Amino acid sequence: MINRLSDRSKKIKPSFTLEMTSKAAKLRSQGVDVINFSAGQPDFNTPKNIINAAKKAMDSGLTKYTSGSGIFELREAICNKLANENCISANTNQVLVSNGEKQSLYLACQALFQQNDEVLIFTPYWVSFPEFVILADATPIFVKTKIDKNFEPDFDDLKSKITSKTKGMIINTPSNPTGGVWSREAIEKSLKIASKNNITVISDECYERLVFNSHHEISEKINLEEKINAQILTCMSMSKTYAMTGWRIGYTYGNEEIVSAMSKIQGQSTSCANSIAQAASIEALSGDQSKVEVMKGQFKKRRDLMVNLLNSLPDVSCKIPGGAFYAFPSFEKYLGKKIKNITINNSFDLSDLFLSKANIATVPGDGFGASGFVRFSFATSEKDIVEGLSRIKDLLIN
Ligand SMILES: Cc1ncc(COP(=O)(O)O)c(C=O)c1O
Repeated sequence: MINRLSDRSKKIKPSFTLEMTSKAAKLRSQGVDVINFSAGQPDFNTPKNIINAAKKAMDSGLTKYTSGSGIFELREAICNKLANENCISANTNQVLVSNGEKQSLYLACQALFQQNDEVLIFTPYWVSFPEFVILADATPIFVKTKIDKNFEPDFDDLKSKITSKTKGMIINTPSNPTGGVWSREAIEKSLKIASKNNITVISDECYERLVFNSHHEISEKINLEEKINAQILTCMSMSKTYAMTGWRIGYTYGNEEIVSAMSKIQGQSTSCANSIAQAASIEALSGDQSKVEVMKGQFKKRRDLMVNLLNSLPDVSCKIPGGAFYAFPSFEKYLGKKIKNITINNSFDLSDLFLSKANIATVPGDGFGASGFVRFSFATSEKDIVEGLSRIKDLLIN
């Protein structure tokens, strides 16, 4: 058969976090009692006031295409949010609303990078970052981080990876998959390196409201306060803060020229984001915020439970994640060993073992560039956390 597919379609990998979620869903539909620690989304429903705003939007006929860069009132609400929560003064032309932050990040890479460009990505990384870079025909360059310092950059490695081709740097704090939250100093240092080398920073801050022991300061705020003068595109999402993953609304704030180039590409690919979800997002950003704090409180309780139970497993160690809803324990001591007669060569083998022998869905760290690690999402009930970790303990002990 003649191969009709483009090289582009062949050179990227599918999102295997989504694959793990569908594997777990398939087993569940077959009646298997699967506990799902692979979810990358809150298990709560979207708050009622947001749902009601969507209903109202439909009833009042807000069911048509919107302006390509997003409903003006939503961009205004985003500017107000940036001012009130993040101490950033933005105008509506600097804001682009997309079909989820994932599209914002994709568009940023499309607008900024091309062949022969190199883009710095910190390991462990969110699965889509390298693929966005590859889809822009550029090359991802991986930079080490320090596990004992909340997965902050290894600055010696960072400096050694910069070449005349380095065009971009993707920052993600709090991080998926580690839950690591970088200190203000680490962000400042990274931005100074970027500024000095004329590197554009894409700052993915979708977990900004899920920081447990401190208040999240966005990179752009630090950039302005310290007068670093780095070029930053800030990408944010409604998904995690407001339990709105299925509504698909995210946004970018940054330099008007770059935002307008992104908007042009969006206009020729998806026109605009969903009108009803945009209307609901105005309510999410401007309405009652109490549910955000309630959800965060729940995540914190579950985090403490999950991390304690993970650290009670033999030969497993897990740092306390400062944000997001992921624990990222090391199972490195199991590499090369046999469990239930299966040799564990990498984290794919571990995740497969957890699913096949204990009905536990997790995401293997190899997919995030971290062999020997496994991502456990605690966006699930305390009952499931206790039962799931007890099943894994039985598996590892026997
Ligand atoms: C680090 C990171 N960035 C971006 C996204 C995308 O979020 P959205 O649902 O807004 O597309 C996710 C979703 O899992 C994520 O974990």
